[in-house]
Amino acid sequence: MVWTVKKAAAPLSFSQKHLTGIGPLSRDDIRVVLDRAAHYARELEKVDFVSDALRGKVILSLFFENSTRTRVSFEMAAKRLGADVVNWDIGASSLKKGESFDDTIKTLNAMRPDAIVIRHSEYGTPDYVAKLVDCPVVNAGDSWREHPTQALLDALTVEQAHGGIEGLKVAICGDIAHSRVANSNMILLRRMGASVHAVAPPALMPAKFPAAGVQAFESLEEGIRDCDVVMMLRLQKERMQEGMIGSDIEYFKKFGLTHERLTLAKPGASVMHPGPMNRGVEIADDVADDPTRSLILKQVENGVPTRMAVLEILVKAQG
Ligand code: CP
Repeated sequence: MVWTVKKAAAPLSFSQKHLTGIGPLSRDDIRVVLDRAAHYARELEKVDFVSDALRGKVILSLFFENSTRTRVSFEMAAKRLGADVVNWDIGASSLKKGESFDDTIKTLNAMRPDAIVIRHSEYGTPDYVAKLVDCPVVNAGDSWREHPTQALLDALTVEQAHGGIEGLKVAICGDIAHSRVANSNMILLRRMGASVHAVAPPALMPAKFPAAGVQAFESLEEGIRDCDVVMMLRLQKERMQEGMIGSDIEYFKKFGLTHERLTLAKPGASVMHPGPMNRGVEIADDVADDPTRSLILKQVENGVPTRMAVLEILVKAQG
């Protein structure tokens, strides 16, 4: 089924009821979201921007894991569209009184939210929740599986900086094995025609990539050579076994992005990082803060218009 968003101009067609990953999206689906996100990015630059696209709708936000960027930008996105947001609080919930996860989700669904945004540490939870509820479900990050809105906002950022994605060479560097951001980005970038280098020490390189055609490199210098975009990843120590990698200092010596190493990439190559950053571990301060190379704060800024596009497309498709 193709869900069609009713809009004054051309309708926005999207093949999915939910956004639980980039995996199920077609190139056309991704294009629809990116074009709408680019529209909202331009609109948000106007001081008098006001939208009532989702007025009267209620977005339920369920964060079972900590978040700054994703949680706040989903809330801002919903409010920018005129929707109300309910932030469920795990610490104050009846889960703490022994209610089961399924009963909690069915209880919340009975209150008829117009969309659910969920982050959870368990693999596949958004797809599981989607089967229990009536409204669209948006994955705000599940375990190391997928973080689709991060990949979409990264794609918007790359398109703004480089004019498109097709034909670009993008290096994704660091803790790939534990990164949902890397997975979603590998799928999206390959689907949109970019070359992707996965750069990691052997202990942090997955046995298998989620997209065909990704090239593996165990040397940062080799992996970023001639790349247009260098995307650094956070070392996710909370998902690692002790002793998997050496000290932070040793890691930085081999895999930290410095200006010296960045000279190996294409002249003017962009630097990205989904955050939160471990400064001095995966990226040097002066690279992260270099306004001529770093797109890191632009990525954060683009979280709002990208999530506006996703919420609008999914909620309006429900009528
Ligand atoms: N990039 C990202 O998911 O950041 P948060 O954990 O702060 O949401």
